[in-house]
Amino acid sequence: MPLPTRAETLTLQNARAMASDAPAFLLDTARKLGPVFRVGVGPITLTIVSEPQALQHVLQKRAQAWGRGTAIDGIRPLLGNGLPLSDPPLWLTQRRTMQPAFHKSNGPKWVELIQEATIGSLNALKPGEPVVTRRLMMLITRDVIVRAMFSHSLGDEVHRIDEAFQVIEDFVAGLAVRPVHLPLWLPTPLHQRFKKAVTYLDARLQALIDERRTQADPPMDLLTMLLRAKDPETGQHMSDRQLRDEVMNIFFAGHETTANLLTWVVYLLHQHPEAKQRAIAEVDTVVGQCALTSEDAAKLPWLGAVLRETLRLYPPAWLFARQALEDDAVQDTPMKKGEVVLVLPYLTHHLAENWERPDVFDPSRFLTETSTDAATWKYRYLPFGAGPHVCIGNHFALLEATVVLAMLLQRGTLELTAPNAVKPKVGATLGVADGLPAIFQQRVTAAAS
Ligand code: HEM
Repeated sequence: MPLPTRAETLTLQNARAMASDAPAFLLDTARKLGPVFRVGVGPITLTIVSEPQALQHVLQKRAQAWGRGTAIDGIRPLLGNGLPLSDPPLWLTQRRTMQPAFHKSNGPKWVELIQEATIGSLNALKPGEPVVTRRLMMLITRDVIVRAMFSHSLGDEVHRIDEAFQVIEDFVAGLAVRPVHLPLWLPTPLHQRFKKAVTYLDARLQALIDERRTQADPPMDLLTMLLRAKDPETGQHMSDRQLRDEVMNIFFAGHETTANLLTWVVYLLHQHPEAKQRAIAEVDTVVGQCALTSEDAAKLPWLGAVLRETLRLYPPAWLFARQALEDDAVQDTPMKKGEVVLVLPYLTHHLAENWERPDVFDPSRFLTETSTDAATWKYRYLPFGAGPHVCIGNHFALLEATVVLAMLLQRGTLELTAPNAVKPKVGATLGVADGLPAIFQQRVTAAAS
């Protein structure tokens, strides 16, 4: 049975609509054609999958037939063969090896490091000061991930490492928007900056790894945990090159997503003052002006519900891809080896077949059910993906967002200066077009510590 297709003759018009607001265009198409469809966009045809059973088929039941494949080879020179880019057998070995480092039992340690990394940026906010919300959240989540990986071992060098990651990040983000990509060997200032940052990071990472190997009592951060991690079946450690790839991938997978979640939370709380007041009241009751503990983080159900509902409405990983590694069929439509499907949690979360009043912000949907596991929700909710590749950092991300939001609300709120002009901006993740300009409004005079 062929999939419904949005008229091929309109491919140029479709391309324009995709460029202007891809989530809205694809949602409009899904509402007309159903949740699994094809759409011509300029010279290419996209196959979109957002129906729960089809998602379960691709992501879980037939996961071995749907992998990373070759579709993402463009970013391999930078990111290598880290977990988000690999297929079995390498992926399986790495996932088994790395899983314990991300177990939620690490919560107390994570809460401490997240607070340490966040406090400086939040305490630097001045009452009445203009703030670009996304910039603030990126600064915080980058500090968090760098500290989670390397703890204090970098000393003052943390700023140089941070800067190098930022240069790489800007370069990668630019790839999505630059129409022409010059070959990397051309010595443009942009290429030179990028290559210098990669060379610096590679060298520093290697030096850190070498240093850690000789330390009797190294800090128990992600670097040490991954260095010591062994495949439980083979007892093998990962190579230095693989470790470097994983560190790079964790950096990229693990901070822009969380920064966008926090940015959308600020937007939604601004639009829903009653939800914001309830969040502030909950933080006041549970934490007051004290430093948060991991037990506190578990006692903030409204904040948790607000975060989960934000992930439903604006899933940062709004789209990801799978390539057929062998012939298969999705909802009776034959798919040839090599075909790519785009998985769109954004559509799944916005279709009336899956959610009542899907466009309404209503955190109370998540007050009784706190899981983000797609299987629990029968594949109607998958902000962290589903199946074997489900986000390895999901507990870390939710804890981080809870702690940062609670710490912000302890101090004040970000009042948006142009709340009606907010539009999504799509890149690797679902962001906000102008970064959400705001004014910081302080609640208390003595900042919490
Ligand atoms: C709100 C924040 C986050 C969101 C929405 C998110 C979302 C996702 C999604 C949807 C996937 C699956 C992609 C696919 O199946 O192709 C994924 C995978 C992954 N995420 Fe996250 N993520 C977040 C935070 C993090 C953090 C904090 C880390 C690490 C500290 C992280 C590390 C990873 C890694 C390594 C993978 C690959 C897992 C695998 O393929 O086995 N993510 N994430």
